[in-house]
Amino acid sequence: MKIPFSKNQINNSDISIVKKILKSGWLTHGKYTKNFENEFKKFTKSKYAVAVSNCTAGLHLSCIAADFKKGDEVLVPAMTHVATAHAVSLTGAKPVFCDINLYNGSINIIDVKKKINKKTKGIIIVHMAGFPNQMRELQRVCKKNNLKMIEDCAHALGTYENKKHVGNFGISGVFSFYPTKQISIGEGGMVVTNDKKTYEIIKRRKAFGIDKDIKERKTPGIYDVKSLGLNYRMTDYQSAIGLTQIKRYQKELSARVKNAKYYCTKLSNIKWLKLPTFDEKASYFIFQIFMPKFKRLKVIKSFMKEKIGFSIHYANSLDNMSFYKSNSSKCENSNIYANENISLPVHSGINKKMINHIFRVLKKI
Ligand SMILES: Cc1ncc(COP(=O)(O)O)c(C=O)c1O
Repeated sequence: MKIPFSKNQINNSDISIVKKILKSGWLTHGKYTKNFENEFKKFTKSKYAVAVSNCTAGLHLSCIAADFKKGDEVLVPAMTHVATAHAVSLTGAKPVFCDINLYNGSINIIDVKKKINKKTKGIIIVHMAGFPNQMRELQRVCKKNNLKMIEDCAHALGTYENKKHVGNFGISGVFSFYPTKQISIGEGGMVVTNDKKTYEIIKRRKAFGIDKDIKERKTPGIYDVKSLGLNYRMTDYQSAIGLTQIKRYQKELSARVKNAKYYCTKLSNIKWLKLPTFDEKASYFIFQIFMPKFKRLKVIKSFMKEKIGFSIHYANSLDNMSFYKSNSSKCENSNIYANENISLPVHSGINKKMINHIFRVLKKI
């Protein structure tokens, strides 16, 4: 039984819309981008949304909007995609790694408090695998220490904390539409914010710092540039497939939560596995299981033989990456997480029969 690790949600009617846009001649950001932003705002209940070329770009723009710069320190969990730390480094500021909690990957608040000093200007929170962090407590820490909070929501479309969609707790939240993500565009990202100033900065800086969108210009080609900027735009045909998917997303999300619940029940029968506690507020980008490293090698071998799709998020903690390690202290839990995790598919293409099969393969080991 072949079990795919991810499944994109693009259907034939989405393909027809893309064809129509390609033939229309209007290829870069346009009305579909606007509609995608509007629909995304509705889903997350944020005041503003800006579509960008990918989540890394959105994180970089958020760090610019937060005014992180050389001499500043920004706290980042050690267990995340390197994009989270790179976004900070690109501004000249230094990412300082904090440890995480086992086994839901949230940032360890005790370690956060330990690492705050006079240079600390902000923090990036990562909702690992779609699990929410303790946002109220983190907001209190940020307020007390005057830190700007950015949320890396690359895994977290549909994740809530205290009935609020993640991405709405700090100055901005950034989502990813990389192919394995809950909504897949190929490449793409979305920044949400409730702060007008942050919105204005991100909107302008994503398009060269130009003061007017094409549609806002009275005469073609006439505009001014008021700040430095990049080209981090999303094309209109990419926006179109994001738009159709966000409209259908509630169904996909429910399937993920249902599958995760079944995984929790079924796999709890295997004593050598560690599982995250089921959380219905999580959006389950992946379903992670944990085991000693020697056991993981056996599991990987069996999954490959049985054609069961899997991945590892992440196999190396950032404090161990060559680019960052000379400047970092060790983050013990992040290293355990890196050595012990396997990510299983949990998307709507997975059913009970497949989960039972995964259970049997694991049980044999
Ligand atoms: C936690 C996290 N942050 C950021 C990114 C970067 O996203 P993108 O590929 O859209 O730039 C990823 C990518 O998978 C991620 O997992």
